[in-house]
This record gives sequence, C-alpha cells and structure tokens, in this order.
Amino acid sequence: MRLLERLAVGSPVVQAGMGGGLSRHELAAAVSEAGGLGTIAVGGRDAIERELAAARALTERSIAVNVLLPFARADWFGAAGAADVLVTFWGTPRRRTGNTWIHQCGSVGEARAAHAAGADAAILQGVEAGGHVRGATPALELLERARSALPPDFPLLLAGGIAARGDVKRALEAGAEAAVSGTRFLLSDESRAHPEYRRRLLDAEETILTELFGLGWPAPHRVVPNAATRHWLADGPGVPPLNRTLNALLAPGARHAPAALQTLLARAQRPDGRLLLPLGATDDGFANLVEAGPLYAGQTVARIGEVRPAAEIVAALTP
Ligand SMILES: Cc1cc2nc3c(=O)[nH]c(=O)nc-3n(C[C@H](O)[C@H](O)[C@H](O)COP(=O)(O)O)c2cc1C
Repeated sequence: MRLLERLAVGSPVVQAGMGGGLSRHELAAAVSEAGGLGTIAVGGRDAIERELAAARALTERSIAVNVLLPFARADWFGAAGAADVLVTFWGTPRRRTGNTWIHQCGSVGEARAAHAAGADAAILQGVEAGGHVRGATPALELLERARSALPPDFPLLLAGGIAARGDVKRALEAGAEAAVSGTRFLLSDESRAHPEYRRRLLDAEETILTELFGLGWPAPHRVVPNAATRHWLADGPGVPPLNRTLNALLAPGARHAPAALQTLLARAQRPDGRLLLPLGATDDGFANLVEAGPLYAGQTVARIGEVRPAAEIVAALTP
C-alpha cells in the first residue's frame, strides 16, 4: 500500500514543517482536515506535545511533526513519536521513533542514506526551496536522478517549486508520491508568520540564497531581501568573513543556548549586527526580526499573490 494511503491522506499535498513555530497546530490541522498532510514545527518536548494535542483536538486525520536534527534533544523524539509521521531534516538519518519516518534530503546520496537507515520515505528538496536548503540541484532533476537510483517501491516526495496545481502534477508525473510546499502555506491564514513578514513576501520578486542568518546554524538558506540583507549582502550573497567566523565559532554554544538567552539575542537583533539568529518573525514573536531576521521564502514567492485559507490552498494544489 502506498505511503499516503496507509496514512489515510487523500491529497498528494504535504505542508512542509516551518520551524521556530511558523507552522503550528492551526495550520497543520487545517491542511490535514482539508485532505493533505499538515506538519507542526516547534522546538522542545513540551511545545511538541502541546501543539500535537491542540492539532488532535481539531482533526482526527494524520498529523506530522518536523524535527531539525541539529537542534533535537533525545526527549523531543518521545513527543514526536506520538505524531502519525516524523519528518526529519539536516543531519545523519537515523530511526528514532516507531511511527512513519520521512527524511528530507538534498542529494541522491542522502536519499540513499535515508533508505539504508530504514526511512519510510524521503523528501527530495530542490535548490528552489525556501528556508534552509540542503542541496544544489533543481527539484525535478533531483527527483529524476533519485528515482532511478532507489528501489521503485521507496516513496519519494518532492519539495521546492510547488505553488500551483501544475507543479504538483509535474512532480507526480516524474514519480513523486506527493508534493511538499512551504512558502505557499506560509502565506495562509493559519500560518504564524508575522503580518509584516507575509506582506513582504506578497511584494517580493526575488530571493537570495545565503548563510547570513547563521548564528547557531551556519548553513545555506533562502530568504527575501530586508534591511539585514541590504546591509550585509550589498556585494552579493556571500557572508562577510568575520560574520562567517563568528557563526562557525559560536555554532555549538548558540545552538543549545538556553531559551532565555535566545530570547534576549532575538530581541536585541539588529540589521547591522553581526550575530544573526535563524529565527523567523512569528505573529507572537519579535517584530524587529522582520528587518533583522530571515524572511524565509522559496522561489515560488514571486508567483504567490495572496494569503488564503489553508483548505483552499490544498484544494487549489490537488490535481
Ligand atoms: C519559512 C520556512 C521555514 C522552514 N523551516 C523548515 C524546518 O523547520 N524544517 C524543515 O524540515 N524544513 C523547513 N523548511 C523547508 C521546507 O521543508 C521545504 O523544503 C520548503 O518549504 C520547500 O520549498 P518552498 O518553500 O518553496 O515550498 C522551511 C521552509 C520555509 C519556507
């Protein structure tokens, strides 16, 4: 039986986990209730438990929880194991829970490693994607290569470049079992992006792939321009050497810094400061992050013109 069928998910549309609380129970439950698969992305055991319980109160359908491996602590997996699906990203794929496990990958090699580690499926993320970008290959090209390198019964999902029904169709025709979309769902009524973050995305025409917001996670990510990118990236997407060195040196400490310290740093973050956390601006977070933090978005942002209810987005994407 196919993966989505086992999960009783009727539409081949998956809402990507968007971390730091951008996708919580409201969005995940709305997507699942509309027939897709919704994903909660919050850090910490208590937050995962709370969000999952809140989603369960809104829908009886399958719900996924996303865990970023560089940040995860052992007890997060206990909480995430209670979801129907665990989606992991970034790091060495390894089974940690008894539920359905999907690992998001940026290369054929990584998809092979996920398969070898016993993953139930892999999400192939193309370079067009928003948020942190694992690989350098366009989505459909990556899918084609992975499809021929992996057993035909190993489910592959495709992320990056998905914002319309035609994109989903193309992904399915190329051998994906489902299409995964982040940016389109970030611009939904139920996402927790700060209103001004959404407004910037609606106006955006271009994205930048950079490592600017690398404090605690020095890795490539795709964002739309704001005051911080204009200050630091005037000459191109390359990060100034001193910022890069600070990010590399401070990475382990910043990644596992106590929440209170992260809060202090986020609140103090300024566009011209060198210490730039990867935290996105949420509607209950710090408004300074709209100019001083990452406005994550994929290349599809140029094609998205309005904020819509998540259920309408699922319907509009479903072939
Ligand atoms: C705002 C935002 C936050 C993201 N955060 C995460 C995350 O926490 N974990 C994760 O696995 N992927 C994350 N991603 C990447 C998505 O899983 C997915 O690969 C991406 O959204 C696909 O590209 P699209 O945004 O153009 O649809 C994020 C993407 C966006 C846009």
